[in-house]
Amino acid sequence: MSRLALAALPGSVRAARRHVHDLLRMWELPHLIEAAELVVSELSTNAVKATGLSTDSPSYGELSNGLNAICVSLYVSEPYAVIEVWDSSDEPPRRQDADPDDEGGRGLALVAAFANRWGYRRPETGGKVVWAEIQVR
Ligand SMILES: Nc1ncnc2c1ncn2[C@@H]1O[C@H](COP(=O)(O)OP(=O)(O)O)[C@@H](O)[C@H]1O
Ligand SMILES: [Mg+2]
Repeated sequence: MSRLALAALPGSVRAARRHVHDLLRMWELPHLIEAAELVVSELSTNAVKATGLSTDSPSYGELSNGLNAICVSLYVSEPYAVIEVWDSSDEPPRRQDADPDDEGGRGLALVAAFANRWGYRRPETGGKVVWAEIQVR
């Protein structure tokens, strides 16, 4: 079980992706890296969008107003590897039916395509966790 808290900033998406990549290599599950990177990228992008700042170089004033965190967790529960991303918003993820010419609205559809199941829960302590299961073998 690995848990990594990151600042809710756009650059943390890349950090989350690298972290998951390194863990899966260490856990000798390299065949999961591609799907897991995609899933953690989409989920952490959404978490940052919902609770974070839109720039990696905020002003001191913006920083003084407080910076939210997100938290990326990864664990194996046979036959799945489970990726979880917590953020401090109670707002649930909502899968949209994106039009072909829409810019966004595809992230969760991608997650659904690469994961066996996905969903969310609200811990008693606040915020929510969006999770996705990827088959290990
Ligand atoms: N972590 C989240 N917190 C709050 N709302 C979310 C979260 N993830 C997704 N959503 C909601 O679900 C919608 C669909 O997400 P997604 O498919 O990734 O598309 P996009 O991010 O391009 O809007 C988002 O627009 C947002 O309203
Ligand atoms: Mg998205």
